[in-house]
Amino acid sequence: MAIDIEVNGRIRRVDADPETPLLWVIREELGLTGTKYGCGIAQCGACTVHLDGETRRSCSTPVAAAVGHRVTTIEGLASPTAKAVQQAWIALDVVQCGYCQSGQIMSAVALLERLPRPSDEDIDLAMAGNICRCATYQRIRAAIHVAARQLS
Ligand code: FES
Ligand code: FES
Repeated sequence: MAIDIEVNGRIRRVDADPETPLLWVIREELGLTGTKYGCGIAQCGACTVHLDGETRRSCSTPVAAAVGHRVTTIEGLASPTAKAVQQAWIALDVVQCGYCQSGQIMSAVALLERLPRPSDEDIDLAMAGNICRCATYQRIRAAIHVAARQLS
């Protein structure tokens, strides 16, 4: 059935079953492949997007749940916070293989928009659902502090 969802500021009409995971719609219907499939069961964070600015695991969110809400993917990040996070990621050379990193950045941006000067504990708590098989956790934490300083 036809479903209208707002993705990255644009209303997009997709043809999907309402129970289809948002992740499939984003990647397969809309071609926004920056959001990754990792586990499919809300355990790794690779598929993290924002729904009205808050993190959401798109692999376990039916597309119908996004109707009437603002979906933002890594391709649509444009706020000053997002820019600071992306710059910090580059400056600290955070990325290794990269697979988890769009999800990491989505979670980091949501954290800093909610909590502009997070402690290490705040960061660990907010980022706990984002798994990195390359163990870039120390650099992620440092980059979040760098972005927070730049924004203050
Ligand atoms: S793919 Fe969604 S949490 Fe792992
Ligand atoms: S950078 Fe490789 S999984 Fe995180």
